[in-house]
Amino acid sequence: MKIQDLATPALVVDAAALEHNLATMAEALPGKRLRPHVKAHKSTALARLQTGRGHTAFTCATIREVEGMAAAGLGDDLLLANEVTDATRLGVIHDARVTVAVDSPETVEAAARGGVAEVLVDVNVGLPRCGCDPGDAGRIAEFARARGLGVRGVMGYEGHVVGEESHATRAEQTEAAMARLLVAHGDVGGDVVSAGGTGTYALNTWATEIQAGSYLLMDSAYAALEDLPFREALCVLATVIHVGPKWAVADAGLKALSMDHGDPRVEGGDVWFYSDEHVTFRPAGGVVVGDRVRVRLAHVDPTVAKHERLHVVDGDDVIETYAVDLRGW
Ligand SMILES: Cc1ncc(COP(=O)(O)O)c(C=O)c1O
Repeated sequence: MKIQDLATPALVVDAAALEHNLATMAEALPGKRLRPHVKAHKSTALARLQTGRGHTAFTCATIREVEGMAAAGLGDDLLLANEVTDATRLGVIHDARVTVAVDSPETVEAAARGGVAEVLVDVNVGLPRCGCDPGDAGRIAEFARARGLGVRGVMGYEGHVVGEESHATRAEQTEAAMARLLVAHGDVGGDVVSAGGTGTYALNTWATEIQAGSYLLMDSAYAALEDLPFREALCVLATVIHVGPKWAVADAGLKALSMDHGDPRVEGGDVWFYSDEHVTFRPAGGVVVGDRVRVRLAHVDPTVAKHERLHVVDGDDVIETYAVDLRGW
C-alpha cells in the first residue's frame, strides 16, 4: 500500500524516526529503568515494540489500558498511575500483575474492595493534580498494609516540570520535586520510586523507573525542547479538498487534532484557522486538489486518542497498520 492510498485524515508514523526513538531511549534507560507510559500511543502493537527493546513493565492511565495490555499478553507489570474509586475491573484481571496508585483512605479502600493486590502511594510533588502530601504518605501506606495490600513504594509525576523550556530550570525543579518524593519514600518503604516523563527522562536520576510515553512518537511541544534527542515521528496526513484564491483547505480539523498545546502546523503552509473537519491555510507554493499535506501535532496523546489506527510509513510505502486499541475507558 502507498501513502497516497490512505483515507484521510490519517495518523502516519515515520518508521525511521520511530526506530530512532525506540533505540535512543532503550540505550538511555534500559529494561525496567523505563516503564513506558502507554497513554501516548494507546496501541498494544507499539507497546510490543517497546517490549522488544527490553521494557517489560508499563504505565497506564485508564482501566481500559490495563485491561487491553493484559489481554494482549503484555501484563508482566502494569501500573495504573491514576486513582480509581471502583477497582473491581482491575481485581478480575488474573493474567497480569496490576498495581494501582492510591493517595487517600478512599482510594486504598477501593483497591482493597476491588481485589487489587498491590499499590503505590501517589505523592504530590508539585503538580496540582492527584497525589497526597508527602507528610501523609506513611499513614496511607500503613492503612493500605492494614487492609492487606502490598505496598510497592511511591510514585510522583513531575508534570509541572516536564515541559519547562530551560534545561537548567527543568533540572532544578526536578530535583526539588524528587526531594518531596524521597521524603515520602522514606516513610512508605518498598522498592519502587516511579516518576518522570519525556522532558525529564535524563534528568530524573532519583526515580528507580521513568514513566515517559511521548518520546516514542513525539510532538512539536516536546520537539521544541532542544536538549531532547527524540524525533517527531507522528503527523496527521490530510488531503487538499479545495483551493481558493489565497488559501487552500485540507480535511484535518478539530475532530482529528488536539489543540490544547496550540495550533498544529501544516508543513509548507501557514495555518489561518481550524474548523471541525477542515484546516484553512495559505500554501507556500502551488497546491492542487488531491495533494497530500502533513500536519505536525502540538500534543501527541489527545490527538492519537481521536484515531482508530496508525500507519507506519517508509517514504511512500505503508509498511504496517496498527490498531489504536487501548482507546475508551
Ligand atoms: C502519571 C504520568 N506519568 C508520566 C507521564 C509522562 O508522559 P510524557 O512522556 O508525555 O512526558 C504522564 C503524562 O501525562 C503522566 O500523566
